[in-house]
Amino acid sequence: MSETTPILSVRGISKSFPGVKALAGVDFNLYQGEVHALMGENGAGKSTLIKLLTGVYERDQGQIFLEGKEIRPHSPNHAQEMGISTVYQEVNLVPTLSVAENIFLGRQPLRFGAIQWQKMKTGAEAALQRLNLNLDVKQQLSSYSIAVQQMVAIARALDISAKILILDEPTSSLDSNEVAQLFKVVRKLKKDGLGIIFVTHFLDQVYEISDRITVLRNGQLVGEFETGALPRIELIKKMIGREFEAFNAQDDKRESSAEIDKKQFMKVERLSKKGAVVPFDLSLHIGEVLGLAGLLGSGRTEIARLLFGIDKADHGRIFLDNRQVAFFSPRKAIAFGFGFCPEDRKTSGIIEELSVKENIILALQAKKGWLHTISRKTQEEIAATYIRTLNIATPNADQKVKNLSGGNQQKAIVARWLASNPRFLILDEPTRGIDIGAKAEIQKLILSLSNEGMSILFISSELNEVTRCAHRVVVLRDRRKITELTADQIDEQVIMHTIAEG
Ligand SMILES: Nc1ncnc2c1ncn2[C@@H]1O[C@H](COP(=O)(O)OP(=O)(O)OP(=O)(O)O)[C@@H](O)[C@H]1O
Ligand SMILES: [Mg+2]
Repeated sequence: MSETTPILSVRGISKSFPGVKALAGVDFNLYQGEVHALMGENGAGKSTLIKLLTGVYERDQGQIFLEGKEIRPHSPNHAQEMGISTVYQEVNLVPTLSVAENIFLGRQPLRFGAIQWQKMKTGAEAALQRLNLNLDVKQQLSSYSIAVQQMVAIARALDISAKILILDEPTSSLDSNEVAQLFKVVRKLKKDGLGIIFVTHFLDQVYEISDRITVLRNGQLVGEFETGALPRIELIKKMIGREFEAFNAQDDKRESSAEIDKKQFMKVERLSKKGAVVPFDLSLHIGEVLGLAGLLGSGRTEIARLLFGIDKADHGRIFLDNRQVAFFSPRKAIAFGFGFCPEDRKTSGIIEELSVKENIILALQAKKGWLHTISRKTQEEIAATYIRTLNIATPNADQKVKNLSGGNQQKAIVARWLASNPRFLILDEPTRGIDIGAKAEIQKLILSLSNEGMSILFISSELNEVTRCAHRVVVLRDRRKITELTADQIDEQVIMHTIAEG
């Protein structure tokens, strides 16, 4: 293999699913010591390409070469043995086992049939050391943050043997410190000569860490570019296939701010729960978008859960339409006209075996009561509207949701809550994993629904999104409300500083 032979090269690879051509004759090259970003809209074919490389799916056509030799990976284990390792957003290790056991899962050192614990411990420590990580390897994996769990997954992958490391949206649920930690590791591995494939929807991260970019659109290769030579605006154009029209949220907002009913919808006094959030006050007007900003673990999700009645507050009072209400349950919250789009679509959102249409209709149906069926025609109309507006890539509304790409599943969940037309909607990280075009559509919808009188609590780690959509922003730090910003005070830099001080 010469200096210029790619460590991995893919020629004319294709893959179809019923009704979908996920990849059509795509080429891809990865070199040693580079970070190569794989970019494209939701459903463009990124994860499918990765699944072909790692033997999750079998290709219909095309060839894969590893160090110049053709390979046919037939399972993730097989790919791993050849040196191709993958770390997904969802850590696929065993949370209830120790760190050491996870690193040696399925290959524990045995002696006369018994596990050699000491050897495993030392081995695990050495594997982590390679990433400059010092962990107590006897601790249960779940006792560490998702970020650390991902590092353990990387350590495991590298320990087995790795020439190529694939990261498919690994940073979606990490905060900025954790991303920095992960990138430190990535830089080190790059120096060690690995080839790294990185999939993400965060453009900042692409420009921070990648050397080259391959763009896919609708299963086709758009091109391969040097990161430094491709301005952002060009990258976006290549991804979406047209000029990106950023909408002017400021205008929409100003219009609605003027109209925001001075009528209070909800007021919260000294609400608190031990270990979740210290006493805080909050008010929300009819037709207002209230943003919650803060780091992961700052209390954002905890507040959302209290307001929806999933967790019960220890103290405090809640008023709706100026009348005090007793602490309630999610069932009662729904009866009040609340909706809650949770942050983790896998555990509390998507129902994989149901169709796209059924997933979208679900919250509306629950609100109406299961005895009042929604006519087939209405169901189809609602589904069609959201599939169109949010550009959900699916062959039809009856496709099972599990067959959609990650970002398109997320869009279906958001559609579910928008379609249920609640009086008050809590959106916790609604655009995670969603591409830039659909993000703008969701932001637009949020503003237009608020114009129609919906009150919205909007939680997002992406500050520019909060500043765009919210009429007012509450900033949290360490489970405490620090400040509240209105109208012209809402500014990314100001929020960032408020979050960071401490
Ligand atoms: N198992 C499957 N069955 C049917 N269709 C599938 C399956 N897996 C993927 N697809 C379809 O193939 C296309 C490409 O999906 P893929 O998951 O590769 O997209 P992606 O680029 O990773 O998107 P995202 O950014 O949303 O993760 C999508 O239209 C998706 O619906
Ligand atoms: Mg994907």
